[in-house]
Amino acid sequence: MSGREGEAARGGAAGAGRGASAASWSGRRVLVTGGAGFIGSHLVDRLVEAGARVRVLDNLRAGREENLDRVRTEVDLRVADLRDAAEVDRAVAGTEIVFHIGANASVPASVEDRAYDFQTNTLGTFHLADAAVRHGVRRIVQASTAAVYGPPRYAPVDEAHPLEPISPYGGSKLAAERLLVAYARTYDFELAVARIFNTYGPRQPRYVAYDLMIKLSRDPRRLEVLGSGEQRRDYAYVDDTVRALLLGATLPLEGPLAYNISGGRTVSIRDLVGLILATLGLTGTEVIYGLPSWKGDIEVLSGDIARLRGFGWQPTVELEEGLRRMAAHLGLVRG
Ligand SMILES: NC(=O)c1ccc[n+]([C@@H]2O[C@H](COP(=O)([O-])OP(=O)(O)OC[C@H]3O[C@@H](n4cnc5c(N)ncnc54)[C@H](O)[C@@H]3O)[C@@H](O)[C@H]2O)c1
Repeated sequence: MSGREGEAARGGAAGAGRGASAASWSGRRVLVTGGAGFIGSHLVDRLVEAGARVRVLDNLRAGREENLDRVRTEVDLRVADLRDAAEVDRAVAGTEIVFHIGANASVPASVEDRAYDFQTNTLGTFHLADAAVRHGVRRIVQASTAAVYGPPRYAPVDEAHPLEPISPYGGSKLAAERLLVAYARTYDFELAVARIFNTYGPRQPRYVAYDLMIKLSRDPRRLEVLGSGEQRRDYAYVDDTVRALLLGATLPLEGPLAYNISGGRTVSIRDLVGLILATLGLTGTEVIYGLPSWKGDIEVLSGDIARLRGFGWQPTVELEEGLRRMAAHLGLVRG
């Protein structure tokens, strides 16, 4: 999908700025792949609250059953693998909407284990799309990633930006997007592709805010940071990301639609370090920049969210507040 192709009617989605409204979700049969993971489990919480009948497919490689504690009795958890076509087929059967969140979600892990990354992200998406066709799924919302754009040619990156990934992860996710778009056009299902930039919050198992907090919890006097500290990112709090994913399931669509999900406020890693130190109430910490970063890391990554805003979505959780909630979840500050 490029540019404005497949764009939905603007501003017409019910409940765009809110969470999952009960009216639209009550009794709906929904599959969430990766639903025991960070973003997936928050999405499952909202769907259950809104009355959806939720099934989760997750192999618990990165996800945790405890992430579903709040809704465990109401969720049909299938501990199953996207790499297994038969298991995916059984999980898809009888569902009308699929949120495809499950993936290897780590760039460094994709560099270390290309086969797992490809088999989960690309082949697993084929298994899902294939089963969706067979079982007459009405809509798929795919969690894609800013990594499909590759190094930004301009900032903020909008949906028309060239797709030039530079990591196995970016490649496997782009291949998954392309496959889904082709299938949606060939067969009879609707598709929304959500290109997520950086999302953070409680239950996150990796990435910069989490890594920095964990390092500081072990040694509050000294903090080593990957890269120069000048890398710039924007961060969406997980609740805001989840609202944007839910929107992908309810927007009126005239064809496959891609939209960015991002926080709308770009900060440097140095800024982020400062905010985290303040959140944890730390002063006098020695911060050391310049540790080699990973292959595939990108210097400046900010997402243009005009399209998402056009659907009535706004970020609602400020970075300071989101970091405080994350630190509270990790037991580093009082909740
Ligand atoms: N967190 C972010 O900032 C971010 C940014 C861009 C895109 N995304 C995308 O959002 C989605 C969720 O990411 P997350 O941050 O919640 O990561 P996560 O690792 O917490 O969630 C991924 C889930 O998929 C499951 N999974 C992995 N391999 C599987 C397999 N073979 N079979 C079944 N389940 C499998 C994991 O156990 C995990 O629960 C991913 O598709 C990721 O690419 C996340």
